[in-house]
Amino acid sequence: MLTLNVNGSTRHVDADGDTALLWVLREHLGLTGTKYGCGIAMCGACTVHVDGVPKRACITPASSVVGKQITTIEGLAPAGDHPLQKAWIAEQVPQCGYCQSGQIMQAAALLQHVKQPTREQIVRHMDGNLCRCGTYQGIVRAIERAAKEVAT
Ligand code: FES
Ligand code: FES
Repeated sequence: MLTLNVNGSTRHVDADGDTALLWVLREHLGLTGTKYGCGIAMCGACTVHVDGVPKRACITPASSVVGKQITTIEGLAPAGDHPLQKAWIAEQVPQCGYCQSGQIMQAAALLQHVKQPTREQIVRHMDGNLCRCGTYQGIVRAIERAAKEVAT
């Protein structure tokens, strides 16, 4: 039995400690916004925050995040109105959508630490999050839009 803090709530999960956090979130807690892409930390589809730091949930053993604050796309802004989520809609970023929750979680970690990132900082920070639909330009525009909104 594991006790995890997920999106501000204490959750008890009947899973082995070496189970990947991704499967605990999806299979045990029904938080299916976090996606399985590659399973080897190469695509970013499974990105969540652990104590505010973006982590690849597919390679993160659940036991390693006991006692830490885990945030998934469902907990980023429970009403779905995080500045990035609004910017994503305004810029019409998603195509198939599969990679997008990981993209937003990766971007959210950037804006938590760098309020007004340059385009170069955005591109570098988002570099490991892949999108088969090629929405990269929209992602950069949306992050720039959200950063402006946060600043005003
Ligand atoms: S599924 Fe975790 S990085 Fe690809
Ligand atoms: S929107 Fe389809 S993989 Fe990114």
